[in-house]
Formats: sequence, C-alpha cells, structure tokens
Amino acid sequence: MSRASERTAGLSVGKRIMAEKIDVAVVGASGMVGGELLRLLRARKFPVGRFYPFNSGRKPSAVVFGGKRYPCTKPDLRSLKQADLVFFVSTDEVSERFAEKLAADGVWCIDDSAQFRLDERVPLVIPEVNASALDRRSRLIAGPNCTLTGAAVALYRIHRKFVISELRISSYQAVSGAGKRAMEDLERELKHYFSHGSVPALKDRRFPRAIAFNLFPQVGGFDREGLSGEESKVEAELKKIWSSPALKISSTAVRVPVLRGHSLSVWAKTRRAWSLGALRSELARTPGLDFAADPYDYPTPLEAAKTEGVKAGRLRKAKTSPNEFQLWIVSDNLYKGAALNSVEIAECLLRKGLLRKEGR
Ligand SMILES: NC(=O)c1ccc[n+]([C@@H]2O[C@H](COP(=O)([O-])OP(=O)(O)OC[C@H]3O[C@@H](n4cnc5c(N)ncnc54)[C@H](OP(=O)(O)O)[C@@H]3O)[C@@H](O)[C@H]2O)c1
Repeated sequence: MSRASERTAGLSVGKRIMAEKIDVAVVGASGMVGGELLRLLRARKFPVGRFYPFNSGRKPSAVVFGGKRYPCTKPDLRSLKQADLVFFVSTDEVSERFAEKLAADGVWCIDDSAQFRLDERVPLVIPEVNASALDRRSRLIAGPNCTLTGAAVALYRIHRKFVISELRISSYQAVSGAGKRAMEDLERELKHYFSHGSVPALKDRRFPRAIAFNLFPQVGGFDREGLSGEESKVEAELKKIWSSPALKISSTAVRVPVLRGHSLSVWAKTRRAWSLGALRSELARTPGLDFAADPYDYPTPLEAAKTEGVKAGRLRKAKTSPNEFQLWIVSDNLYKGAALNSVEIAECLLRKGLLRKEGR
C-alpha cells in the first residue's frame, strides 16, 4: 500500500474490520479518555471479544460496555496478558510499569501517556500522517500529545509540499486535557461562584490558578529555559511525527475554561513560495481535516466537541515575513487528541493484518 493510500485508508471508519474478535483491555477505563475510548470502540464497531477494564483500584468503580456492567480492578501483568490489545489511558507510571513487558510478550499496546512518545524504538503515530510507521517491529505504539495533534494533521500536506521551516503556536487548551479531577475543579469553582459571587481558591485544586472565568499561560511545570512541559512536548513530538528534526517551533500553551476542544493560533513560515489558492487547495485535500475557506465559518471548541477529525479556518497571509501564513485550528482533545486516534491506530493495525487473535 502506498503512503498516500495508507493515509486515506486510515480515515475509513471500521469498514473493513475482520470478523475475528480481539480481546481488549483498557487501563484507565474510568477516566476522561477511557470513557470516550469505550464509546468509540462500540460506535466504530471495533471487533471486541473479551473486555477487561482497569482503574487505579482506589475506589470501587465500574464501567458499562456494550450494555454490560464491568467492575474495574487494579491492573497486574497476569490479567493484562489475557488481552490481545491493551489501551493505556491512565498515567505515565502505569504505562512504564507494564507496556514494554506486555509488548515483548506479544500483546499490542497503544499508549496515550507521554512515557514512550520520544523513545526512538516506539512509533509515535497519527494514522493520517504516518501510518507507515506501524509495522511488525514494535507492538508498543504511542499516541501523541493532544495539543500538537491538530497542527500535525492540519499542516501536514502543506509541510510536505512547501516545507514548513518555522512554526509559532499559541494554544488555548480545554480543562478536560488535564483529566477528570480538573473538570471537577472547574465545576466546583463555578458552583461556588454562582452561590457566593466569587471564584474560590480551592486548596486541593489540580491547576496552579483558578480556571473559572480565567486563563493562565501554564500547562505543566517550567524547565530552566522557562518552557512549560506542554510547550516542550509540542516541539519534540511534532518533529518526530513529521520526521522533521530541523523544524523550528515556538509555542505558548494557555489553559482556558473550555470543557473540551483545544484551539491553536498558528503562524507557519515555509521554505518554498505559495499562493493562498495553493494553500487552500492543499488544506481542502488534507486527510482528516475539515477546512473552512469562508473566514466566517471558523471552527470553535464547542462545535468541534465530540466530532471526528480536525477543523481549521481563517487562513491568511501573515504580515510578519514573506512565505508566512496564519491558520486557526481546533480539535477535540479527547477524540482526535486521544481516544479516537488510539482507536484509529488499532483499526489501522487490523487493516494491515498486524493485529490478530494469537494464541500466546
Ligand atoms: N485528557 C486528554 O485530553 C488527554 C489527551 C491525550 C492524552 N491523554 C493521556 O491519557 C491518559 C489519561 O488521561 P485522562 O485525561 O483520561 O485522565 P483521568 O480522567 O484523570 O483518568 C485517569 C484514569 O487512569 C486511572 N488510573 C490512575 N492511576 C492508576 C493506576 N495506578 N493504575 C491503573 N489505573 C490508574 C484512573 O482510575 P481511577 O478512576 O481509579 O482514578 C482513571 O481511570 C493520561 O496519560 C494523559 O496524559 C489525555
């Protein structure tokens, strides 16, 4: 299969799924991404055989999958080995503890944590961009950070044709990007505001500042150069996914009081010259992207919530230098930024005949 047809194939929704059932485990099934993953596996008719959900085991909890209620338990290697495919949607530490051992034992692992994304032995995959990285060499596959996914998908065709040399990004990131506790904090702050007229300073809050009616330029901790964890991830992971180590990227990651959907304001400078018409035509043909050519048709997080793919609009020439353009990009961090991308990776493995039921 050619690279281009692989990318197109990556978009078809569970159409050529094999009849064979795959035993699936989800570590983090009770979380924000886990919940969406379960819904998407059903909605896209992924051929799930036996189903094993796991959580931290700190509190009794259960998930409903396919109309059936499953209690969640704490994962251990023996239980996880029962699955043909394990989705890791919990924490870096949990992925570190289990994923490599499972993959070495023949279990396919799709990891949404940051643990292996920059490990050169592990492919970091967005199927529309680099499905060709999926092969027999690694049964452990990483999904990227939810912020860069929008840029990686939306700009990939333009990058291939006109070679993006510099990228400046301001990201406006939803609260759900930080998990269910952050969502609960926003809810508590809002409740307090509507009953007491002020935003409280919650003692045990997940974020460094209040998020209700606020925003702050901090996603993760800062390094010595003043970059936040999120800003470093965007740079390193995008370079890896595009196989473009020379690309220069600067970003500012901002947390905003949006429930779901990350938005990006992007300045991209290219090596080759283009016309706006040529950029429009590339964006219109970019796999996984809905591009709005009408400037009034720009996407917003609310409209992008629970939709597949990436949206973009407000394409225009930048005034700051020649060959530089601006674009507005929005994608649902829990869908294409996490759960949907992981399910699409699994579908791709099925189509390639890599993921199958194996007696181990
Ligand atoms: N949220 C996003 O937009 C997004 C995007 C891309 C990637 N990711 C990645 O996806 C993963 C999950 O994020 P999330 O937002 O869904 O977080 P979340 O809402 O906080 O959910 C975390 C899940 O992991 C479980 N868990 C925590 N500690 C565990 C342990 N020691 N053993 C087993 N399970 C454990 C939790 O179980 P309990 O219910 O028992 O606490 C819960 O099911 C993270 O690695 C995150 O970096 C998230």
